[in-house]
Amino acid sequence: MFFRKKEVFPESPVKVDNALPTMALSSHDDKAKPSKELMNISLDAIAEARKIDLSSVCKRMKAPPFYPNIWPGEHYKLLAGFVKVCKPKCVVEIGTYQGLSLLSLKEHLPQGSKILSFDVVPWQNIEGTILKEEDFEVNRSYQIVADLSIPSVFEAHKRMLSEAEVIFIDVTHDGILEEKLYTLLKTVIFKKEPLIIFDDIRFFSMLKFWRNIVDPKIDLTSFGHWSGTGVTLWQ
Ligand SMILES: C[S@@+](CC[C@H](N)C(=O)[O-])C[C@H]1O[C@@H](n2cnc3c(N)ncnc32)[C@H](O)[C@@H]1O
Repeated sequence: MFFRKKEVFPESPVKVDNALPTMALSSHDDKAKPSKELMNISLDAIAEARKIDLSSVCKRMKAPPFYPNIWPGEHYKLLAGFVKVCKPKCVVEIGTYQGLSLLSLKEHLPQGSKILSFDVVPWQNIEGTILKEEDFEVNRSYQIVADLSIPSVFEAHKRMLSEAEVIFIDVTHDGILEEKLYTLLKTVIFKKEPLIIFDDIRFFSMLKFWRNIVDPKIDLTSFGHWSGTGVTLWQ
């Protein structure tokens, strides 16, 4: 069963704009638990998210809902919170789309740090993009048009990826692409163990992928995206 974002599950017992079927899974038999470090980083990021204002990103949008400032419920403030807490030298995003998460991640990116956003579609070709040419700055912010799930393409970017300290993965949510990316990421020798944030982990199609992760992990859906926000700390 694979539901895309804007679909409504026909048997939804409540009338809402978006509804997806998911399952409640027992926790005691999940092999992975959050480490103390992941718990601390997460609690600090949540505390920061409460204070973060993403009006500068919302102003780029033509009409509501202004997702970046909707929190909890949307993940943008939490993403910015993680950047504020982790102070990463390099952030990697996979899935640029209209640029909402790219600009949110960039909002508190320290001076001298950089963000690389990957997509298979150039941002200029995305309808409703909020990105502008000036958002891409030498030595600071780039979009790279590449499909990292292709092993040879991944290999070509491996050295660049090894610098990532925060990685945000927001692609197709079928659980298959995410699994491919995760398996390839496991071949990288990171300079510093990254924090990896996965969007949409509550999608039915993502449940198995998320469950199978054995690194320290935490489901932060209540403080992130309603469709599921999962965070892992690399091991
Ligand atoms: C849900 S959107 C990302 C939304 C964005 N991160 C945000 O929160 O504002 C998913 C994006 O992933 C891109 N995508 C799909 N497959 C991909 C792949 N293999 N590599 C990189 N990007 C991919 C799509 O083109 C699309 O722009």
